[in-house]
Amino acid sequence: MPAKRNWINRKIEPETPFKVCFVCLGNICRSPTGEGVFRHLVNREGLDSFFEIDSAGTAAYHEGEPANSRSSRVAELNGVRLLSKARKFEHSDLDYFDLVLAMDRENLRDLKSLDPQNRFQSKIMLLRDFDPVPGDREVPDPYYGGIHGFELVFEIVMRSCEELLQQIRPHIQNPS
Ligand code: 4NP
Repeated sequence: MPAKRNWINRKIEPETPFKVCFVCLGNICRSPTGEGVFRHLVNREGLDSFFEIDSAGTAAYHEGEPANSRSSRVAELNGVRLLSKARKFEHSDLDYFDLVLAMDRENLRDLKSLDPQNRFQSKIMLLRDFDPVPGDREVPDPYYGGIHGFELVFEIVMRSCEELLQQIRPHIQNPS
């Protein structure tokens, strides 16, 4: 079931945009898909000025690389462009972003280990906390598998991001 707790406690305006960062391991497959899909949905609703959208990886293996070609291909077939450049998630990102969305439990554990004093726990969640389809809570790592895994990632990310935007929408001040 989608997360129900009250996790936004302020109005969202262009002067104080809602800042969300999607996080996976390498920042070349799942989190660039999250960034691209959420950007696409926000843009489609004319809400760009209310958001800052980014992605990062818990590891630096692919620093500076664009999204994986298989992720990009699947996204483009669905009308979504992936424009990310891989970077490692930094401790300062925990302070900066309003919401940090992990793709799997390993990412979640790694993010939480950056916050031993539990100052930012309420803003670190699994993306699939927003997935309206019941089941596993992880976006599976597609890197070593076939194209079907990338299609599955796209589907999961799309429906989770749609629900995420629905939940954020009531907090947006005077959308046009
Ligand atoms: P991602 O996928 O975490 O969704 O970007 C992976 C990318 C690279 C590796 C593992 C997962 N890797 O081991 O290099």
